[in-house]
Amino acid sequence: MTMFKEEENGRAQRFSLHGHWSSRIAFILAVTGSAVGLGNVWKFPYIVGENGGGAFVLVYLVCVVSIGLPVMMAEILIGRRGRRNPVATMALLGEEEGSSRQWKWLGLMGVTAGVLILSYYSVIAGWTLAYIPKSLSGVFTGASAERVEAIYNEFTGNWLSLTIAHTIFMASTVLVVARGVERGLEQAVRFMVPALLLLMLVLLGYAITAGDFAAGVKFMFATDFNTLTWDGVLQAMGQAFFTLSLGMGAVMAYGAYLPEETSISGASASVVFADTLIAILAGLVIFPLVFANNLDPAEGPGLVFVTLPLVFGQMSGGIFVATVFFVLLSFAAWTSALGLVEPGVAWVVERFGRTRLQAAVMVGGAIWLAGLGTVLSFNVLSDVVFLRGTIYQNIDYLTSNIMLPLGGLLTIIFAGWVMCRNSTSEELGGAGSIYRIWRFLARFVAPAAILVVFLRAVGVIG
Ligand code: TRP
Repeated sequence: MTMFKEEENGRAQRFSLHGHWSSRIAFILAVTGSAVGLGNVWKFPYIVGENGGGAFVLVYLVCVVSIGLPVMMAEILIGRRGRRNPVATMALLGEEEGSSRQWKWLGLMGVTAGVLILSYYSVIAGWTLAYIPKSLSGVFTGASAERVEAIYNEFTGNWLSLTIAHTIFMASTVLVVARGVERGLEQAVRFMVPALLLLMLVLLGYAITAGDFAAGVKFMFATDFNTLTWDGVLQAMGQAFFTLSLGMGAVMAYGAYLPEETSISGASASVVFADTLIAILAGLVIFPLVFANNLDPAEGPGLVFVTLPLVFGQMSGGIFVATVFFVLLSFAAWTSALGLVEPGVAWVVERFGRTRLQAAVMVGGAIWLAGLGTVLSFNVLSDVVFLRGTIYQNIDYLTSNIMLPLGGLLTIIFAGWVMCRNSTSEELGGAGSIYRIWRFLARFVAPAAILVVFLRAVGVIG
């Protein structure tokens, strides 16, 4: 009984420390804001392009539904039950559920993954920021593909411009994070996701009329599994985790601020749906334009930054559309960045008794510094390649394809096997059919799938 009382106090304290979501919809918006970002518009098209299209997309979609959805529900329910930062939550629940406080290491891996991801994410977000004044200046108007490519190469080849853009982005992230949950995150996401969705639909209309839509659709949905390697499958799974912000405790951290009565499965399904819709739309906008303009779908991280400015330069009102697009994409990146630092900041606040401002500056500073590695990967150190390629490519591979799936695997094992049935069914609103399906996916399907993909990609099982 005393345990229970203390637990209640813990929860109450937790709420007053960081604030909580004013409503169910605010929570959904915040998680959607974290999910929808560069992962959908920048990364998804470029890795689909690199991995040959349709088969990759199909594996990605299967991973989103059979792994992403149950892991998201697991993270939210764990977060809400623990009501603390991911590290403390994992330690607390590990103990409460009769396992061990050492589960805190899962939380710590998440904090680390967030820091590493944001270190490069902020650099790319800096590109979108820098493309706002570029668009406004009209340099893309009527520009040829070569010219647009040259602008991209000139820009990314200059470490100083990249550093400035990265610094501006990180500073604005730190500022909002320092202000706390309610005032900071909620307002930012309210209009961004609908606005981005609307603009993507406008661009889709353009891609249908001006692009080679049939070729684009064929590339994205015709499945030829001969083009897909097991490493490609791992990347598709990694992208499912990345785009849904899973495997690193971010959604867990947001779940900690979730009111008791909110339906976790409903909220998860909405987020997964919106996120997937925007990614698929991005692909359907990019690839028709890629093929109509004889660009290379496997161009890499520059894909969106070359394809879209080229067509913005060709459409009437292109300066306006381009500017709005890069403003919205910067916003989307920024709401995601908030989610990437939140686990780290919440942890530093609670573990080291710092103010949110101090924690945000400390964590943000470390991320900024690490980001210089990515900045230099596109210019001064572009020839320094090891393991998976440049510094950027290594950080990306390590986080998306190793840390996130591993974090997701441990999270789902915790929710499916360590937590007792009563705890999880209580959080998921009783033992109905949704609960049974979730539990089956969480205990068997998702862990097995993650393990198989892992081991095949590494070549342990042939
Ligand atoms: N989902 C984000 C995107 O697609 C990136 C991301 C990965 C993220 N992990 C996260 C965002 C954690 C917030 C929190 O752009």
